[in-house]
Amino acid sequence: MDSTVGAPQDVIPAHLLKGQKALVTGANSGIGKATAIGLGRAGADVVVNYVADQESAEEVVREITSFGVRAAAYEADVSQEDQVVAMVDRMVREFGTIDIMVANAGLQRDSSFTEMTLAQWQKVLDVNLTGQFLCAREATKEFVRRGVVPEVSRAAGKIICMSSVHQLIPWAGHVNYASSKGGVQMMMETLAQELAPQKIRVNAVAPGAIRTPINRSAWETPQAREDLLKLIPYDRIGDPDDIANAVVVLASDLLDYVVGTTLYVDGGMTLFPGFATGG
Ligand code: BGC
Repeated sequence: MDSTVGAPQDVIPAHLLKGQKALVTGANSGIGKATAIGLGRAGADVVVNYVADQESAEEVVREITSFGVRAAAYEADVSQEDQVVAMVDRMVREFGTIDIMVANAGLQRDSSFTEMTLAQWQKVLDVNLTGQFLCAREATKEFVRRGVVPEVSRAAGKIICMSSVHQLIPWAGHVNYASSKGGVQMMMETLAQELAPQKIRVNAVAPGAIRTPINRSAWETPQAREDLLKLIPYDRIGDPDDIANAVVVLASDLLDYVVGTTLYVDGGMTLFPGFATGG
């Protein structure tokens, strides 16, 4: 990083999301953690959802509160309807409302097709797709109940679905994951169409290869890194902050007219880099 420039997030105004309440699922590690911290840095109060490892969630809460905003860690499994309902109810009780839902929680259970168990298929669909459906639904109920508060935001609410380049790029050995993200795309676009008249903006961020625990094997060894970089025209593996910055701006009124869009944040991974020299 060029020390004269500083980190890109340093230029995001600390009042960009002032007065807004955000919930980020799966916020105790990886992309969710960076996103929760980014939203807090931009002035939002943040609920840090986690399903396991309370201590790591509390650490994220401490980092967020250091910006002078409110934060709290809520445990809930996003694939369980009663837990999602209770989590959003609790947020409305304790924080007053919700303005931004970042449906981020996701996982992989990789396997070749014929070896893939129904349990592996189901688990990934339950968390990555049904979890986003439940979180979006419960947040929407509150957005509709409250309506637009012009001093806070031009929208009644914002839903940001964490998708993946694999909503577009087929991925052998990961049919459950790719199917879940393909589903996220169509869910997001359908919800965007359905909810826009109520001033609810639904969009997605589609990360490429970001350095997090979910894909450790893809960047941990020099050989794996070299193979991975062949798929990334911009020639660097992404950082969680690359995604956090995209979510913060997308959630803000700066992008108020962006509705039903997927923002690919992937260093060009979706540009079919194999065709740079072939085809
Ligand atoms: C996956 C990562 C993978 C990346 C690019 C993400 O959605 O979770 O494991 O490295 O896509 O293929």
